[in-house]
This record gives sequence, structure tokens and C-alpha cells, in this order.
Amino acid sequence: MEFLSDKPLLITDTILRDAHQSQAATRMTIEDMLPALEQLDEIGFYSLECWGGATFDSCMRFLNEDPWERLRTIRKHVKKTKLQMLFRGQNILGYKNYADDVVEEFCAKSIENGIDIIRIFDALNDVRNLQTAIDATNKYGGHVEAALSYTISPIHNEKYFVDLAVQLEQMGADSICIKDMANLLLPMAAYSLVKALKEKVRVPIHLHTHNTTGTGDMVNLMAAYAGVDIVDTALSPIANGTSQPATESLVATLKGTARDTGLDLNKMSDAAAHFRTVAARLEESGALNSKVLRVDTNTLMYQVPGGMLSNLISQLKEAKKEDKFYDVLAEIPKVRKDFGYPPLVTPSSQIVGTQAVMNVILGERYKAFPKESKAMLRGEYGMLPGEVNEEVRRKAGIAPEEVITCRPADLLPPELPKYREEYKDVAKSEEDVLSLALFPQVAPKFLEYRDRPVQEEVQPEAGDKVRELYVEYKF
Ligand code: CO
Repeated sequence: MEFLSDKPLLITDTILRDAHQSQAATRMTIEDMLPALEQLDEIGFYSLECWGGATFDSCMRFLNEDPWERLRTIRKHVKKTKLQMLFRGQNILGYKNYADDVVEEFCAKSIENGIDIIRIFDALNDVRNLQTAIDATNKYGGHVEAALSYTISPIHNEKYFVDLAVQLEQMGADSICIKDMANLLLPMAAYSLVKALKEKVRVPIHLHTHNTTGTGDMVNLMAAYAGVDIVDTALSPIANGTSQPATESLVATLKGTARDTGLDLNKMSDAAAHFRTVAARLEESGALNSKVLRVDTNTLMYQVPGGMLSNLISQLKEAKKEDKFYDVLAEIPKVRKDFGYPPLVTPSSQIVGTQAVMNVILGERYKAFPKESKAMLRGEYGMLPGEVNEEVRRKAGIAPEEVITCRPADLLPPELPKYREEYKDVAKSEEDVLSLALFPQVAPKFLEYRDRPVQEEVQPEAGDKVRELYVEYKF
């Protein structure tokens, strides 16, 4: 088989972000990272994904760590390699739509504090939810990596994603990411999609997958054959399973080929040795359970993300209806069709999953709607990719004229002046204002802890448990 490119394959290592987000509930601390940052910088990765996604929330909520300080510390020790973050479009790093001024300021401050590349995605692939973040990243000199939220449905075919990529390139993307968060992209489809994208898109193509279903290494290899420019992998100690495929395995596989990464396995071994101790610490603390490493074939059979299935099982257990599991599995594609085929990723996976559970256990379809279902059907998350079943929308009590057709954030007036005023006594910086704006339930408590007088004794809270265990393990 022939490689369709002869350029070295570039590698983004995710061990500082998605690897532990996927395997260990985002519980890696800056102390876990510090001893290996210079080593990581020496390896020669295209970039290190190290910030954004769920790490921002987790820093304040569970680790008593200032996420901005984490970024500055990483930047101080990683001088050569580009730093990359994951950004949820108009939702930034939170779970609702924010006004444009907050999105713009967040991009500006991320870049100012050390981020080079911002990977921007929208769960529904509504490009209007990406525009503000794309423009702001460009304005402040960052690299825009616009992402395709990959999924499979009667309307999500190869042509859909190629057209979307072309559009994102026109909107100002410096690279395009295929974001296969649920590990639905199979190796042969990856080959075909990358080949098609390379024919139509000029900017580099970056592939992000997971190894939940055991196909991740093959996906990366087939994409390398098809000419993908960059792939995401994680150093072996926190690789595979729900995380990314292992960096070392792919580097070794391509050695001596036209797509040799040029990376030296020996240079990775010190960093890997360090992260083995971190993985052991995370396992000991209970944050990492080795069952996440098992190959999960359910996704291959049902095209439903692994995380969504475990949510379903617990919802059914709670309702004492475990026997309805297969009925719910059959209901999911029907609900998804009625809702206009949203990709099954947070938050749409929870919304579709919960609606399917309710349709089954209440004994009548669409007898009741959770408020998130109604919000989605009303267009509050953005435009749904396919046609919505009007009958279902009517049952949800939504009149046709109530459906939002504009970009949802167009309805939000500027919010920053309000936040600056509201938090003027707690915020010590503009970065603090952004932390408070994104997580008003979590950030005030964290800032109080951070800014307490040093001599004051602070009783450890549940969130400190992880840190205590770290200290125990390390010393
Ligand atoms: Co991911």
C-alpha cells in the first residue's frame, strides 16, 4: 500500500489533557505534570494538548488549582513546543451559551497566558456557534483549529464533512480537526474521509480519535496512509482504552517509512517513566480504574458512544428498569431522528439518551420532555443538522414561531461589564472574572481558598483527597 503523502507525520501528545480527562476524570494536577514538562518539550511534538476541555472546571472544582496559573506554569517550562487547548465554541469551557464579548475575551486571555493553538468545536456543527471564537483567535494571533464533530447518520456522510471543512476554511481556520470523540470513525472510513478532505481543503488536517473500541491505532495508521498531517496520541502510561492510542506505538510503526515522525523513542522513555508513577497515583486514588482500558464493542454494534451507554445503564438501574436496556437502545436512533440527527456528544448525547429512557419507561413515547429536550427542539443549542419531527415538537409544546432560527448568541447582550461589577470584590484579575463568569457556582469558593491568608488553617475538603493521596504516594 502506498502513502498518499511523503511528509513526516506530526504528533500532538494529549497526556496533559484528553488522556487523563478520558481515563481518570481529569484529575491530573500540575504537580503531576511538572517533573516531565521539560522532557516533553524536548521530544519534538507538533504540539502538546494541555488545557481547556474539562480541565478548567476540574482544576477549581476538585483540585484547588488555578487553571490560569496552570497554563502559565506549563508555558514557563515548555518553551519550544506549541501549546494547544480545546474550546467548545460559544460554550467556551462551560455548558451554556455565553455572549460574544466573553468568548472573545476568553480567547484573548488564553493566548496571552500561553496558548498557541485553539481547537474550536460545536456539538451540533452549527458553524454560527464557531464564528466568534474563530475571529477572536485570529485577531489575537492564535492558530485556529476548527473541528468537525464526527458522527454517523443518514445525513452525516463524507460529503457533509468535506463541505463543512471547506466552509470552516473559508471562515478562517488554519487547520481542520476531525474530532472523533466517540470513536465511531472506522479505519477504512478514516482513509476515505482524509483522502477526500486533502483533495478539497488546503490547510492541514488533524485527526483526533480514541481507542475505546480498539480501532484507534488502525484509524491513525489508515489516516497516515491517506495523507493526514497531524494525529493525536498519548504517551503510553495513560494511553488506549477511552484515551488516545499510544504515541510510542505509532512512532515505532512509521519508523523508516515515508511518514517517519522523526521522533526518538528513547527521548520519550523518561517522560513515560514519570507518567507511570502518575498513573499509579491516579489508580490508587480511585480516579483511574483499569476497566477503562478494556475494548468496548458496544459502540461498534450500536453506534452509541461508550460513555452514553454507561449513563443509560445507571439511569435504568435507578428506575429499577434494567430489563428495558435493549428497548432503550432501539429507541435512541428513533429519538435522534426525531430531533434532526444531532451528533451524540455532550450535551446532545445526554439529552437524546434521557429522552429515550423516558419514552420507554413511561410506556408512551414523548409523554414527557425534560427541559433540555425542549431547549434543543426550540433551537437554543443551535440549528439541528437534519429536519426535526414537527409532531414531536408540537407534543413538546413548542409552536413553530417559537423556534429560534438566528444564532442563539445573537440574543445575548454583552455580559462582561456585568460580571466585572458583580465580582469586583472577589476577582483579582480579568482572568478571575472569566473563571467566575464561566463557573459562578465553583469559582467563588475556589478563589476564597486561593486568596486566604497563608497562616490560616484550612480543613481539607473532599476535593483535596486527590492531592493528599498524591503527597502520600510521592513522599
Ligand atoms: Co477526545
